[in-house]
Amino acid sequence: MSSTTDASAARAQIAARTLRTDRWWLPPLATFIAFTAWVAYATVRSFMQEYYYVAEYNYLTPFYSPCVSVGCVPEASHLGQFLPDVWWLPYAAVSLPFLLLFRLTCYYYRKAYYRAFWLSPPACAVAEPHAKYTGETRFPLIMQNLHRYFFYIATAIALLNTYDAILSFTKADGSFGLGLGNIILVVNVVFLWGYSLSCHSCRSIIGGRLNHFSKHPVRYKLWGFVSRLNTKHMQYAWITLATLAFTDFYVMAVSAGWISDLRIVG
Ligand code: FES
Repeated sequence: MSSTTDASAARAQIAARTLRTDRWWLPPLATFIAFTAWVAYATVRSFMQEYYYVAEYNYLTPFYSPCVSVGCVPEASHLGQFLPDVWWLPYAAVSLPFLLLFRLTCYYYRKAYYRAFWLSPPACAVAEPHAKYTGETRFPLIMQNLHRYFFYIATAIALLNTYDAILSFTKADGSFGLGLGNIILVVNVVFLWGYSLSCHSCRSIIGGRLNHFSKHPVRYKLWGFVSRLNTKHMQYAWITLATLAFTDFYVMAVSAGWISDLRIVG
Protein backbone atom coordinates (compact mmCIF):
# COMPACT_ATOMS: atom_id res chain seq x y z
CA MET A 1 0.00 0.00 0.00
CA SER A 2 1.93 3.06 -1.17
CA SER A 3 -0.35 5.91 -0.10
CA THR A 4 -3.61 6.68 1.57
CA THR A 5 -5.22 7.56 -1.79
CA ASP A 6 -4.27 4.11 -3.08
CA ALA A 7 -5.89 2.65 -0.01
CA SER A 8 -9.30 4.12 -0.84
CA ALA A 9 -8.97 3.05 -4.49
CA ALA A 10 -8.26 -0.48 -3.32
CA ARG A 11 -11.54 -0.79 -1.46
CA ALA A 12 -13.94 -3.50 -2.51
CA GLN A 13 -16.27 -2.31 -5.26
CA ILE A 14 -19.64 -2.93 -3.64
CA ALA A 15 -22.61 -0.94 -4.93
CA ALA A 16 -24.46 -0.94 -1.62
CA ARG A 17 -23.30 1.60 0.94
CA THR A 18 -23.00 -1.19 3.45
CA LEU A 19 -23.92 -4.83 3.84
CA ARG A 20 -24.44 -4.39 7.57
CA THR A 21 -27.97 -5.14 8.69
CA ASP A 22 -27.67 -4.09 12.34
CA ARG A 23 -28.46 -0.61 13.61
CA TRP A 24 -24.91 0.64 12.97
CA TRP A 25 -26.13 4.24 12.77
CA LEU A 26 -27.22 4.29 16.40
CA PRO A 27 -23.81 4.92 18.10
CA PRO A 28 -22.80 7.82 15.79
CA LEU A 29 -26.26 9.34 16.12
CA ALA A 30 -26.16 9.12 19.91
CA THR A 31 -22.67 10.63 19.89
CA PHE A 32 -23.83 13.46 17.63
CA ILE A 33 -26.76 14.33 19.91
CA ALA A 34 -24.74 14.06 23.13
CA PHE A 35 -21.78 16.12 21.88
CA THR A 36 -24.02 18.80 20.38
CA ALA A 37 -26.02 19.11 23.60
CA TRP A 38 -22.87 19.25 25.73
CA VAL A 39 -21.16 21.87 23.58
CA ALA A 40 -24.33 23.99 23.56
CA TYR A 41 -24.57 23.83 27.36
CA ALA A 42 -20.86 24.55 27.88
CA THR A 43 -20.94 27.49 25.47
CA VAL A 44 -23.93 29.10 27.18
CA ARG A 45 -22.40 28.61 30.62
CA SER A 46 -18.95 29.86 29.63
CA PHE A 47 -20.38 33.14 28.38
CA MET A 48 -22.96 33.58 31.15
CA GLN A 49 -20.45 35.26 33.50
CA GLU A 50 -22.55 34.65 36.62
CA TYR A 51 -23.57 31.87 39.00
CA TYR A 52 -20.11 30.34 38.87
CA TYR A 53 -19.12 30.73 42.52
CA VAL A 54 -20.78 30.03 45.88
CA ALA A 55 -19.11 32.45 48.27
CA GLU A 56 -20.39 30.87 51.49
CA TYR A 57 -18.89 27.45 50.73
CA ASN A 58 -16.07 28.36 48.37
CA TYR A 59 -17.50 26.32 45.49
CA LEU A 60 -16.07 27.27 42.10
CA THR A 61 -17.31 25.61 38.92
CA PRO A 62 -14.56 24.08 36.75
CA PHE A 63 -15.92 26.08 33.79
CA TYR A 64 -14.61 29.28 35.45
CA SER A 65 -11.27 28.11 36.79
CA PRO A 66 -8.99 29.94 36.81
CA CYS A 67 -11.16 33.05 36.67
CA VAL A 68 -8.88 35.70 35.13
CA SER A 69 -11.23 38.52 34.13
CA VAL A 70 -11.36 41.78 36.07
CA GLY A 71 -15.05 40.95 36.50
CA CYS A 72 -14.28 37.77 38.52
CA VAL A 73 -14.72 37.48 42.25
CA PRO A 74 -11.22 37.69 43.81
CA GLU A 75 -11.61 34.30 45.58
CA ALA A 76 -11.86 32.57 42.19
CA SER A 77 -8.88 34.36 40.65
CA HIS A 78 -5.93 32.17 41.61
CA LEU A 79 -3.82 33.47 38.73
CA GLY A 80 -4.82 37.12 39.02
CA GLN A 81 -7.24 39.22 36.96
CA PHE A 82 -5.79 40.46 33.71
CA LEU A 83 -8.46 40.09 31.02
CA PRO A 84 -11.10 42.75 30.32
CA ASP A 85 -14.66 42.14 31.47
CA VAL A 86 -16.43 42.02 28.11
CA TRP A 87 -19.38 39.81 27.17
CA TRP A 88 -17.58 37.98 24.38
CA LEU A 89 -14.67 36.80 26.52
CA PRO A 90 -15.31 33.90 28.93
CA TYR A 91 -14.00 34.52 32.43
CA ALA A 92 -11.81 31.41 32.10
CA ALA A 93 -10.53 32.35 28.65
CA VAL A 94 -6.99 31.16 29.45
CA SER A 95 -8.00 27.57 30.21
CA LEU A 96 -11.13 26.81 28.18
CA PRO A 97 -9.48 26.90 24.71
CA PHE A 98 -6.78 24.46 25.84
CA LEU A 99 -9.27 22.13 27.45
CA LEU A 100 -11.26 22.19 24.23
CA LEU A 101 -8.14 21.48 22.16
CA PHE A 102 -7.11 18.71 24.56
CA ARG A 103 -10.43 16.97 23.97
CA LEU A 104 -10.63 17.79 20.26
CA THR A 105 -7.27 16.13 19.65
CA CYS A 106 -7.92 13.21 22.01
CA TYR A 107 -7.56 9.84 20.27
CA TYR A 108 -10.94 8.64 21.52
CA TYR A 109 -12.85 11.82 20.71
CA ARG A 110 -11.30 11.86 17.26
CA LYS A 111 -12.76 8.46 16.56
CA ALA A 112 -16.10 9.58 17.96
CA TYR A 113 -16.50 12.84 16.07
CA TYR A 114 -14.93 11.62 12.82
CA ARG A 115 -17.73 9.07 12.83
CA ALA A 116 -20.59 11.15 14.22
CA PHE A 117 -19.95 14.51 12.52
CA TRP A 118 -17.84 13.81 9.43
CA LEU A 119 -19.12 10.30 8.70
CA SER A 120 -15.55 9.41 7.89
CA PRO A 121 -16.56 6.61 8.07
CA PRO A 122 -19.78 6.57 10.14
CA ALA A 123 -19.12 2.99 11.28
CA CYS A 124 -17.02 -0.06 10.49
CA ALA A 125 -17.78 -1.51 7.05
CA VAL A 126 -19.95 1.46 6.06
CA ALA A 127 -18.68 3.49 3.12
CA GLU A 128 -18.02 7.15 3.78
CA PRO A 129 -19.40 9.90 1.55
CA HIS A 130 -15.97 11.43 0.96
CA ALA A 131 -14.22 10.50 -2.25
CA LYS A 132 -10.71 11.05 -0.95
CA TYR A 133 -9.00 10.02 2.22
CA THR A 134 -5.83 11.75 3.32
CA GLY A 135 -5.88 10.76 6.96
CA GLU A 136 -4.20 13.17 9.34
CA THR A 137 -1.30 13.95 7.02
CA ARG A 138 -2.24 17.50 6.04
CA PHE A 139 -3.35 20.78 7.58
CA PRO A 140 -5.53 21.10 9.60
CA LEU A 141 -5.73 17.50 10.79
CA ILE A 142 -1.97 17.19 11.07
CA MET A 143 -2.39 19.48 14.08
CA GLN A 144 -3.83 16.48 15.92
CA ASN A 145 -0.19 15.62 16.59
CA LEU A 146 -0.06 18.47 19.10
CA HIS A 147 -2.14 16.40 21.48
CA ARG A 148 0.70 15.66 23.87
CA TYR A 149 1.33 19.40 24.41
CA PHE A 150 -2.32 19.99 25.21
CA PHE A 151 -2.00 17.09 27.63
CA TYR A 152 0.68 19.00 29.59
CA ILE A 153 -1.51 22.11 29.77
CA ALA A 154 -4.62 20.13 30.71
CA THR A 155 -2.65 18.46 33.51
CA ALA A 156 -1.76 21.89 34.93
CA ILE A 157 -5.45 22.87 34.76
CA ALA A 158 -6.42 19.60 36.48
CA LEU A 159 -4.05 20.59 39.30
CA LEU A 160 -5.91 23.90 39.60
CA ASN A 161 -9.25 22.09 39.68
CA THR A 162 -7.86 19.88 42.44
CA TYR A 163 -6.80 23.00 44.35
CA ASP A 164 -10.34 24.39 43.93
CA ALA A 165 -11.82 21.17 45.29
CA ILE A 166 -9.49 21.26 48.33
CA LEU A 167 -10.25 24.95 48.97
CA SER A 168 -13.95 24.21 49.00
CA PHE A 169 -13.58 22.45 52.35
CA THR A 170 -12.89 25.84 53.93
CA LYS A 171 -15.95 28.04 54.24
CA ALA A 172 -15.97 31.82 53.83
CA ASP A 173 -15.63 32.28 57.62
CA GLY A 174 -12.50 30.08 57.63
CA SER A 175 -14.09 27.05 59.30
CA PHE A 176 -14.22 23.51 57.91
CA GLY A 177 -17.29 22.59 55.93
CA LEU A 178 -18.57 19.54 54.13
CA GLY A 179 -21.58 19.48 51.87
CA LEU A 180 -22.89 17.69 48.82
CA GLY A 181 -21.09 20.31 46.73
CA ASN A 182 -17.72 19.18 48.12
CA ILE A 183 -18.46 15.59 47.20
CA ILE A 184 -19.50 16.58 43.68
CA LEU A 185 -16.37 18.71 43.19
CA VAL A 186 -14.09 15.93 44.44
CA VAL A 187 -15.77 13.22 42.36
CA ASN A 188 -15.40 15.43 39.29
CA VAL A 189 -11.70 15.97 39.97
CA VAL A 190 -11.06 12.26 40.54
CA PHE A 191 -12.63 11.43 37.17
CA LEU A 192 -10.74 14.31 35.51
CA TRP A 193 -7.51 12.70 36.71
CA GLY A 194 -8.77 9.35 35.46
CA TYR A 195 -9.33 10.90 32.04
CA SER A 196 -5.97 12.75 31.96
CA LEU A 197 -3.85 9.87 33.25
CA SER A 198 -5.52 7.35 30.94
CA CYS A 199 -4.57 9.53 27.94
CA HIS A 200 -2.60 7.71 25.23
CA SER A 201 0.00 10.49 25.20
CA CYS A 202 0.42 10.18 28.96
CA ARG A 203 1.09 6.46 28.53
CA SER A 204 3.63 7.20 25.83
CA ILE A 205 5.31 9.94 27.88
CA ILE A 206 5.65 7.64 30.89
CA GLY A 207 6.69 4.42 29.17
CA GLY A 208 7.86 5.50 25.74
CA ARG A 209 11.41 5.75 24.37
CA LEU A 210 12.71 3.09 26.75
CA ASN A 211 14.65 0.12 25.46
CA HIS A 212 14.72 -1.74 28.75
CA PHE A 213 11.90 -1.56 31.24
CA SER A 214 14.10 -3.56 33.62
CA LYS A 215 16.41 -0.56 33.95
CA HIS A 216 13.52 1.78 34.80
CA PRO A 217 11.46 -0.03 37.45
CA VAL A 218 9.60 3.09 38.63
CA ARG A 219 8.57 4.11 35.13
CA TYR A 220 7.61 0.52 34.41
CA LYS A 221 5.32 0.46 37.45
CA LEU A 222 3.76 3.79 36.50
CA TRP A 223 3.38 2.64 32.90
CA GLY A 224 1.58 -0.49 34.10
CA PHE A 225 -0.79 1.66 36.17
CA VAL A 226 -1.46 4.11 33.33
CA SER A 227 -1.90 1.23 30.88
CA ARG A 228 -4.65 -0.23 33.03
CA LEU A 229 -6.38 3.16 33.16
CA ASN A 230 -5.85 3.51 29.42
CA THR A 231 -8.14 0.56 28.69
CA LYS A 232 -10.98 2.65 30.18
CA HIS A 233 -10.15 5.90 28.41
CA MET A 234 -13.38 6.00 26.42
CA GLN A 235 -15.42 5.56 29.59
CA TYR A 236 -13.50 8.37 31.31
CA ALA A 237 -14.08 10.58 28.28
CA TRP A 238 -17.84 10.18 28.63
CA ILE A 239 -17.98 10.17 32.42
CA THR A 240 -16.04 13.44 32.64
CA LEU A 241 -18.40 15.13 30.20
CA ALA A 242 -21.19 14.17 32.58
CA THR A 243 -19.36 15.10 35.80
CA LEU A 244 -18.18 18.45 34.39
CA ALA A 245 -21.68 19.45 33.29
CA PHE A 246 -23.26 18.18 36.49
CA THR A 247 -20.71 19.91 38.74
CA ASP A 248 -21.20 23.16 36.86
CA PHE A 249 -24.97 22.84 37.03
CA TYR A 250 -24.91 22.13 40.75
CA VAL A 251 -22.72 25.17 41.49
CA MET A 252 -24.98 27.31 39.29
CA ALA A 253 -28.11 26.04 41.03
CA VAL A 254 -26.72 26.75 44.52
CA SER A 255 -25.19 30.07 43.48
CA ALA A 256 -28.43 31.23 41.88
CA GLY A 257 -30.43 30.22 44.95
CA TRP A 258 -32.51 27.61 43.12
CA ILE A 259 -31.49 24.98 45.67
CA SER A 260 -29.61 24.92 48.97
CA ASP A 261 -26.45 22.91 49.36
CA LEU A 262 -27.05 19.74 51.35
CA ARG A 263 -24.79 20.24 54.39
CA ILE A 264 -23.15 17.38 56.25
CA VAL A 265 -20.73 19.38 58.44
CA GLY A 266 -20.85 23.13 59.01
FE1 FES B 1 -7.71 11.07 24.97
FE2 FES B 1 -5.16 11.90 25.29
S1 FES B 1 -5.92 10.30 24.09
S2 FES B 1 -6.95 12.64 26.23
